[in-house]
Amino acid sequence: MSPRPLVVGVSGSRRDGSYTKRTVERALAAAGRAGAATDLIDLGRVDLPLYHPDRDAGECGDAESLLARVRRADGVVVGSPNYHGSYSSTFRNFHDYCGFDEYEDTVVGLVVVAGGGTIASTLDHMRVTMRGVHADVVPEQAGVLDASAKFDGDGLVDEAVAERVDRVGEAVVAAARRRQVADGASCASADD
Ligand SMILES: Cc1cc2nc3c(=O)[nH]c(=O)nc-3n(C[C@H](O)[C@H](O)[C@H](O)COP(=O)(O)O)c2cc1C
Repeated sequence: MSPRPLVVGVSGSRRDGSYTKRTVERALAAAGRAGAATDLIDLGRVDLPLYHPDRDAGECGDAESLLARVRRADGVVVGSPNYHGSYSSTFRNFHDYCGFDEYEDTVVGLVVVAGGGTIASTLDHMRVTMRGVHADVVPEQAGVLDASAKFDGDGLVDEAVAERVDRVGEAVVAAARRRQVADGASCASADD
């Protein structure tokens, strides 16, 4: 039996009551039901200065501990609000601290939240950016358009969108398990 995969959620909004955070939480809940342990990084609640290439992560607030949490993950669900047709600076700033050490051999799922109707470009930009750190991005992705009309006090009210978000969490767990099985098989053959 494979060990339980760990899925970390990263929410790239600093707004109180962020819809992105709630969407990432929903994907993590689905990952939990699919058998994963989960952990949420809310970038709105961390001390993370603007990335500076001449400063070590150890000198930069919470950076080192946040990177360690991503390195431990088998899968990551990354969420960003749509800002001007792309991801937020909050998402990007954390991403600039990350590299192959954080994401090589890590499965990633993408979710985006938009006040209006634009999600495709943001998802595309996140996919390319994740490729840049060698993340294994699953094809499933979810966007919440017209976000303020899609949530009530209990969460996402649009069933079709909620199901898409759930599928992202489930797909990350399924792909992380496939990697665990493949890694186990290659370890076994290395021992043979
Ligand atoms: C700087 C900025 C730029 C935005 N640009 C867009 C945009 O191009 N298209 C869009 O649909 N919504 C845009 N929005 C609205 C946000 O996507 C929306 O408010 C979203 O719910 C924010 O996510 P959050 O609730 O997680 O903070 C923008 C908001 C801000 C603050």
